[in-house]
Amino acid sequence: MSLPPGFLDELRNRVPISRVIGRKVVWDQRKSNQARGDWWAPCPFHQEKSASFHCDDQKGFYYCFGCHAKGDALTFLREADGLEFMEAVKVLAAEAGLAMPEPDPRQRERTDRRTKLLEVTEAACRWFRLQLQTGAAAEARDYLARRGLDRAAEDRFEIGFAPDNRTALTQALKEKGFDEAMIVEAGMSAKPDGGGAAYDRFRGRIIFPIRDGQGRCIGFGGRSMDPNARAKYLNSPETPLFDKGRNLYHVAPARAAVAKGQPLIVAEGYMDVIALARAGFEGAVAPLGTAITEDQLRLMWRINPEPVIALDGDAAGQRAAQRLIDLALPMTGPGQALRFVILPAGQDPDDLIKAAGRGAMQALLDQARPLVDLLWAREIEGQVFDSPERKAALDKRLLDAIGRIPDELTRRHYADEIKRKTWELLNRSGRNQSARPKQGGSGRSTDRRGGPSTGSRAPRPAIHVDTTLAGETLLEGASLLICALRPELVAAVETRLERLIPRDADRAALLHDLLSHDDSPAGREGLERLRKDAHLGLTPSVICSQEADSVAAILSNLLDRLEAQRAAGAELARAEAEIQGEADEGLTWRMQQIARARHRAERPELETTGDLNEDRDALSAQLQDWLSGEIWRKPPRR
Ligand code: UTP
Ligand code: MN
Repeated sequence: MSLPPGFLDELRNRVPISRVIGRKVVWDQRKSNQARGDWWAPCPFHQEKSASFHCDDQKGFYYCFGCHAKGDALTFLREADGLEFMEAVKVLAAEAGLAMPEPDPRQRERTDRRTKLLEVTEAACRWFRLQLQTGAAAEARDYLARRGLDRAAEDRFEIGFAPDNRTALTQALKEKGFDEAMIVEAGMSAKPDGGGAAYDRFRGRIIFPIRDGQGRCIGFGGRSMDPNARAKYLNSPETPLFDKGRNLYHVAPARAAVAKGQPLIVAEGYMDVIALARAGFEGAVAPLGTAITEDQLRLMWRINPEPVIALDGDAAGQRAAQRLIDLALPMTGPGQALRFVILPAGQDPDDLIKAAGRGAMQALLDQARPLVDLLWAREIEGQVFDSPERKAALDKRLLDAIGRIPDELTRRHYADEIKRKTWELLNRSGRNQSARPKQGGSGRSTDRRGGPSTGSRAPRPAIHVDTTLAGETLLEGASLLICALRPELVAAVETRLERLIPRDADRAALLHDLLSHDDSPAGREGLERLRKDAHLGLTPSVICSQEADSVAAILSNLLDRLEAQRAAGAELARAEAEIQGEADEGLTWRMQQIARARHRAERPELETTGDLNEDRDALSAQLQDWLSGEIWRKPPRR
């Protein structure tokens, strides 16, 4: 349904965002300023004790300085309660005392038609459920019992039975007053091609009702109990209600479970979802008898940024996984990732849970692999890379695949990861030295110890690079303090300040205040703490009395160094991650280069050592130096 222009703004204006959020969090009364509509609380989206989650009634926005969750009241309802957009709009409209706008007549007609079709499917659903209790369903009940489904499971998943009769359901529905055309349109009956009376679509099958995100019965899956049946499963045809490519089995309960912290697991079949949910993995969904579609991926990503794909461990399941890689690559990016669980050969989640229990499933989930791993495995599988041409072909295939990723950052990280894997692969084979990626701009040759290493892993060298954050904390504290004491300098460094991610909530609040020319209790507290922070060794009165130009130069220099350190820190973290597995001289060397570059990026006068006392003394001495005129003898770079 489309909303009239301005409706959403009206909604947002009418309901203070703190009222919506206040149901999910406990406000920090000390830090919040109720009168100004300025609220702080421990973040509902990540685990924390401090209050780094902020919401502002004036702006109608929330932002968490810890996990960076952000948005407006509608976003909050969707993220915290797992609502669809329109559901969130309805909740907010009710809260605001606004009536939902009337749909246009054509839309209304479609809605009315759908409502009628839903009456048919709901009636059919009830009828199937009743049939399961009849004498004709003895075999079906035995079948379900053999598959380990008890009465509670039948109720929970509304499992039913379609007797082996040509017209029983059609008749029953007609008797309830539905006309034949509706019954056919709802997908419950079919008309023979040559004309004649409609006959039941589902006959002699166990019935699994399929409900949409709002819990409405949109169709059915029917499983034959006969192992030789031509189709093991028969599903509702495409109808105005049942769009196979845009829905998922069990999506509503799964969404609720995921909102409570469960993983979103995507299995192949209805029985897998049922087995998973019964084993406690309630965030399980499945496509509806077709391969996963783009729309279904989007639907999954609206529920969770990283669904876990658990396809069967048979050839068909593996093929489905391969197709999914190609489907997902052009859509992947931040907040739109996939992980894959590799099931034991020949098993699906249902088999696995039956054979080995929920612990076995959990163990697999814990080891779920990212998309990039599967892409890689696919491209190298069963091949030997013993010639330049073969290696080039591999590179080309991988580059092509990566090239399909739209998001630039994601593409870069894929490239890094693939480069690392290629390097590892070609080196482990002990044949190829030239495939090693370039090392940080050096022409240094990479000779290896004692000839080709055949399988025996080199011991991991002890690498110690100083990654302590003490220096960063000081630089950040000093920068913030200077900004707070000399607010006229903020404008010139605004964009740089916006990129800071402060170490703690009070500093974050102070930063927020500085950028928004605001004055919150939390920000004031942050400032007080910095003023008193002996580690910084700054004298506020001196900073306040200096020429603006010289303080600006100092500030700019502090930010230079802070940014250099953080950039190097990120690069180091990446190199350290790469080094897990096999470390070698090349990587050790690269780490040293990064560490050196980091120190070079800093002022030579002040190399942070990681020792808090030494760092503080050095920074303090230098700042005092600068403030007393020294700065003009050694003009800061910029
Ligand atoms: P599976 O054959 O893996 O079924 O098909 P399953 O869920 O493990 O079922 P059980 O355990 O044998 O009872 C996976 C899904 O593919 C669709 C269904 O949605 C099924 O759940 N499918 C399968 C069909 O639509 N038609 C078929 O003939 C077979
Ligand atoms: Mn199965």
